[in-house]
Amino acid sequence: MRFVHIENLRSGEQLARPIFAPDGRILLNSGVQMETTYIERLRGLGIPGVYVIDEDRPGVEVPETISQRTRTEATANIKAVFDSVRVGKTFRLDEVGQSVKAIIDEIVQNPNVLASLSDVRSYDGYTFSHSVNVCVISVMLGVKKGYNEKQLYELGLGAILHDIGKTQVPEDILTKPGRLTDEEMAIMQQHTTFGWQILRQNPDVPLSSAHVAYQHHERPQGLGYPRGLTSDRILPYAKIVSVADAYDAMTSERAYQRGMLPHEALRIIHRLKGVQFEPDIVDLLDLCVAQYPVGCMVRLNSREIGIVVDINQQERARPIIRVLYDRWGKRLQQFWELDLAKTRHLSIVEVVE
Ligand SMILES: [Fe+2]
Repeated sequence: MRFVHIENLRSGEQLARPIFAPDGRILLNSGVQMETTYIERLRGLGIPGVYVIDEDRPGVEVPETISQRTRTEATANIKAVFDSVRVGKTFRLDEVGQSVKAIIDEIVQNPNVLASLSDVRSYDGYTFSHSVNVCVISVMLGVKKGYNEKQLYELGLGAILHDIGKTQVPEDILTKPGRLTDEEMAIMQQHTTFGWQILRQNPDVPLSSAHVAYQHHERPQGLGYPRGLTSDRILPYAKIVSVADAYDAMTSERAYQRGMLPHEALRIIHRLKGVQFEPDIVDLLDLCVAQYPVGCMVRLNSREIGIVVDINQQERARPIIRVLYDRWGKRLQQFWELDLAKTRHLSIVEVVE
């Protein structure tokens, strides 16, 4: 399969993955053949692109971190919590708590899975799918830290609810493209304190999870908000969620921003290590994401171009490549596979798609 931007999508192409509405419902299922009316509809919904089946890349499956079913349910459940809180109702933890447990189960059972490229999602659904992704990445980091079931639940719950305070921030500030004024920024930053207040009032939410909402924008050297805490006073769960939050925000496609590729986001996070992000969590993030995910097209220092077909667990920057084009850019009649872990003189120089 391969990712196609909506502008390049043609009728006749077949979906390799389902497309979700903002509330987590499936809009179009995998296998559906594109028609002009569908493409127009997707464009109208602000969907940036889709995964299609690619006959040139047989057998290349982009692995999913958690099942579509768990993801869809979790997205719908967190949306329901946001909707209740927005209209001032109390919320029940049952369903969203179940979703966090399902996410933990899948990750614990599949310890070698890596965070995949962000899902295809509409811009409107950003907050909800972002909340689910932050939960998934945080739980993966928690597993690497050796947390037990109870700790993973407290972490995962704090992660999926970390931005609940945004329900109290006016919509025009939340969705404003470009820079916020100082005044708008001050209101936006209050989502942390609002989140803490909302979660603290619910007796089913552990206090350590509520602290995630309060502290996820604090930074090691005290440059964060709302209280400017330094590393020694920021709780471990919040340190994890702040890294997961930044990574997912950087790699997500949004109305005013094209998503970065994993290796670009990792490079930036590494550069900000110690100032913006806790160094030990950043090192764990390297173990949870693939710099060059399966399905992405890369150029080697030999100028040959190929597609990543498998990740080497020991050396993630040296995956298995199916070479499709020779060094002169000529399409090969027959593909061949190259294990970069065993071919030390070759390396990836750039991602071409
Ligand atoms: Fe936030």
